[in-house]
Amino acid sequence: MAKLETSYLGLSLRSPLIVSSSGLNSSVDRIKKYQEFGAGAIVLKSLFEEQILHEVNHLEKYSDYTEATDYLKHYVSANNVQEYINLIKNAKQSVDIPVIASINCLSDNQWLSFASRIQEAGADALEVNIYYLPLDPKRKAEEYEQVYNSIAEKLQKVITIPVAYKLGSHFTNPLNVVEHLRYRGAKGVVLFNRFFEPDIDIHAMKVVPADIFSNPSDLRYTLRWVAIASHLIPEIDISASTGVHDGEALVKMLLAGAKSVQVCSAIYRNGPKHIEVMLNTLTEWMNQKGFKTISDFRGKLNVGSIADPTQYERSQFMKYFSNYE
Ligand SMILES: Cc1cc2nc3c(=O)[nH]c(=O)nc-3n(C[C@H](O)[C@H](O)[C@H](O)COP(=O)(O)O)c2cc1C
Repeated sequence: MAKLETSYLGLSLRSPLIVSSSGLNSSVDRIKKYQEFGAGAIVLKSLFEEQILHEVNHLEKYSDYTEATDYLKHYVSANNVQEYINLIKNAKQSVDIPVIASINCLSDNQWLSFASRIQEAGADALEVNIYYLPLDPKRKAEEYEQVYNSIAEKLQKVITIPVAYKLGSHFTNPLNVVEHLRYRGAKGVVLFNRFFEPDIDIHAMKVVPADIFSNPSDLRYTLRWVAIASHLIPEIDISASTGVHDGEALVKMLLAGAKSVQVCSAIYRNGPKHIEVMLNTLTEWMNQKGFKTISDFRGKLNVGSIADPTQYERSQFMKYFSNYE
């Protein structure tokens, strides 16, 4: 019988499927359900730097800016720091699976001290969700990237629980970003976050939010980088995120070398039982192939393990033009 136990960030997981950071994990009752259906761990919704700073600086500071005040009020009422700490404590008391906290940050400043509160509350690990929309044409890419390094350097001094960095997909050289984080103590990286995006309604002539959920085909970009990074930077754990909607996609990410696989949109769409459905597909596939443990096949199809690595490295369609005229 196939065994699904694995490890990620030094934590023991009963299965490689992690319920991704989102509102899915905002209540202990739901977290218990995910455990019941076999999830290996959960990542709580991100605590936003704005929320933390609100606790540090008084809201009055922003009173001249009505929109900013409303924005902060919204976040603070939706999920303040103390509620977050309580959620960590309650989740830890209620489930055996690892509870990973998440902070979304924009700077390397005051929020860092709150990481220790998260650690004290019992979180098993911290996921750091950083993203900058580079809106300054005069600022070099490396200046943006330097903030990641600075956060990692400071965080390393503040906490001892393992830290994973959840990255966006738009770096010129994602491997270099991962390598720099690894030098600065990162135990893992989540490749990749998927962000809120705009769309245009051409009938109403206005800008509207795009679909917040991913599609199964969104998996391919992540698959490529998991397969490359797991070979070139084997010292860091990779958690695959984006586009994993079924058990087959879960198998693909593990074959590409992921230590764990995060699922969000598919659970929103299908409910918590979908975790069990996905894990059953994984188990059946392992039984069919004769794999007894995850480590029997993890990374078997990463860039270092296949005969023709250009299958991951090719980016232009040149070779295929002749077939598609
Ligand atoms: C409604 C919603 C809320 C989310 N909230 C967060 C969050 O607070 N922090 C975070 O790091 N990612 C957040 N995400 C991103 C997901 O964790 C995940 O990385 C992304 O949806 C891609 O995975 P998927 O294809 O399985 O949906 C959110 C996604 C959705 C759809």
